Amino acid sequence: MIPLCVPEIKGNEWKYIKECLDTNWVSSVGKFVDRFEEEFAKYNEVNSAVVTMNGTAALQLALITLGIGEGDEVIVPSMTFISSVNAIKYIGAVPVFVDVDRETFVMDVNKVESLISEKTKAIMPVHIYGYSVEMDELNAIAQKYNLFVVEDATEALGTTYKGKLAGTLGDIGCFSFNGNKTITTGAGGMLITNNDEYAKRAKYLSNQTKTIKKNGAMDHEEIGYNFRMPNLLAAMGVAQLENIDNYLEAKRINAKLYDELLKDVEGITLIKKANHINNSYWLYSILVEDNFRITRDELLEVLKENGIQSRPFFLPVHNMKPYAGSKCGSMEITMDISNRGINLPSSVSLTKEEIRKVCDVIRNK
Ligand SMILES: Cc1ncc(COP(=O)(O)O)c(C=O)c1O
Repeated sequence: MIPLCVPEIKGNEWKYIKECLDTNWVSSVGKFVDRFEEEFAKYNEVNSAVVTMNGTAALQLALITLGIGEGDEVIVPSMTFISSVNAIKYIGAVPVFVDVDRETFVMDVNKVESLISEKTKAIMPVHIYGYSVEMDELNAIAQKYNLFVVEDATEALGTTYKGKLAGTLGDIGCFSFNGNKTITTGAGGMLITNNDEYAKRAKYLSNQTKTIKKNGAMDHEEIGYNFRMPNLLAAMGVAQLENIDNYLEAKRINAKLYDELLKDVEGITLIKKANHINNSYWLYSILVEDNFRITRDELLEVLKENGIQSRPFFLPVHNMKPYAGSKCGSMEITMDISNRGINLPSSVSLTKEEIRKVCDVIRNK
């Protein structure tokens, strides 16, 4: 089976994790927690990073840190993994769904403004599959209406927009280190920001708002959360981050070969290339049009029969049971590409032969 996206564990992961085990520093404090935060912030060229137990927690923490809560509306695409939306719901806020762009699969910024109401407090752009939302236009809208921008950059570590990394373009950016992500800690997440107050508050909230009295007793002035990542996992994160440039280069080289081999296939649409966006190609994705020789679902089946793991695009969250009846704009493109999109194998370790095999199957060779 050619897998969809598996981790690459070839660096100092064993060494650093062993160090935690050998020294007993396995829990939520330790040098690797500090190092992972510092080095992740440095990589992204931001002031601060706060590590969390997963990406969903990072998103929830970001929203709470910004003071968003009960009844506040947050504009989010329906074409996303449900975590983006659940993070809004967990804090009593209200997701308002916006459509996506057909050429890039991410939030259509032209459709955001009409969804803003007096209750809107934030916009959550989600850079799905590695492509960046048009952040200059989005930030201009946010500024005009005095809204926060929380980037869900969980699928776009290393993507750049006008030379700046995804996740650094709003008030707070959030990442996931789930097993299928560009770097992984098994499970994990990170929140990044250039705002020192937000970073301080997020760290405080993520650690049960713990402060220590003179005599060593623990005090808590607010209801906090245990969103911390253990040192053991942070050790893996530090090792993974050491190799991020290699991982991104491999993904981009793989995407180039996919592009070459698929560009002339009738009925297959490739994602748009734009000079100002350097896609990290977390998951290389295509659309299957009506003039392709078989349907999208038939192609998924054929890929499976040939030992190739692929995945259909996200189902629209606004149509899922917990969110049915939510406020949303026109969902025309979301509905369309949800039925047409396929994520193809995108592991760092994917070989040229494997990419050729996938493309040959698509080309029916
Ligand atoms: C778009 C998106 N948002 C949020 C998440 C949540 O991350 P996690 O699984 O680490 O909680 C993921 C990944 O799983 C994701 O793909």
